[in-house]
Amino acid sequence: MARITWGMATSHVPSIGAAMDNHKTEDPYWKPLFDGYEKARTWMAEHQPDVAVIVYNDHANAIDMDLVPTFGIGTAESYDVADEGWGPRPVPSVVGAPDLSEHMVRELIDDSFDIATFHQLDVDHGLTVPLSVYCPEPGESWPCAVVPVLVNVIQYPQPTAARCYALGQAIGRAIRSFPQDLKVAVFGTGGMSHQLSGARAGLINERFDRMFLDKIEHRPEALTALTREDYIAEAGTEGIELIMWLVMRGAMSDNIARVHDTYHVPASNTAAALALFEDLDSREGVTA
Ligand code: DHB
Ligand code: FE
Repeated sequence: MARITWGMATSHVPSIGAAMDNHKTEDPYWKPLFDGYEKARTWMAEHQPDVAVIVYNDHANAIDMDLVPTFGIGTAESYDVADEGWGPRPVPSVVGAPDLSEHMVRELIDDSFDIATFHQLDVDHGLTVPLSVYCPEPGESWPCAVVPVLVNVIQYPQPTAARCYALGQAIGRAIRSFPQDLKVAVFGTGGMSHQLSGARAGLINERFDRMFLDKIEHRPEALTALTREDYIAEAGTEGIELIMWLVMRGAMSDNIARVHDTYHVPASNTAAALALFEDLDSREGVTA
């Protein structure tokens, strides 16, 4: 059966990808951020999954604002890198895991999550930047296949934090019932606090971010109790992306250990963080 071996949450700021693409990671502005990734990257490289289930949001690149599904799953054989206005990032296209995708769609619908399916999807910075955070030098291809899971965080009303956590729990059940012997990592992406426009543009709330980073491990229910308005008030209009971390957390068991985390301000307008957790229940020889 498939196992969830680890979960990683990371910001997906486009300029983090641009810094890598343009060889600026040693510049004084960027070096502290990338130094913070070092430990987690080494651990992830030593614990390669077969598939990464990447929970992310499209930023009106592949999904037209006229039709915005609350939750979706990509079921394609492969996903092209989106052109967000300055050409696609110079990174490999993304290989899908259609059998696992189809299984997840079926299981989720049977579990009362009426999820949209994307048979064709170009993936934007929301997905490719987390892949680059995980694997900075992919060469010809990324080290694992990918199932994209899409969450609407950009158009009101976004799903509640509690619903995102419940979706994660259903995704966890779906993955663990997949009959192939696969190692699966789950990525939660976006955040931390940031607001890109309006009177509060540039907002960072370190107190809230550190509370979130702390509670995501063993007290996620403290985070699912917050409303979407709480997230926007505390973390900013784009900081609500943090609800996608709860999908990742919901997919993992209660038996997790923090491998590493890092928090850095600013990356562009954003408080950037990475948090990596091992799922101890998935270790060889351990049955849940
Ligand atoms: C930035 C952050 C985001 O999450 C995003 O999707 C786009 C831009 C930023 O801080 O620049
Ligand atoms: Fe974003």
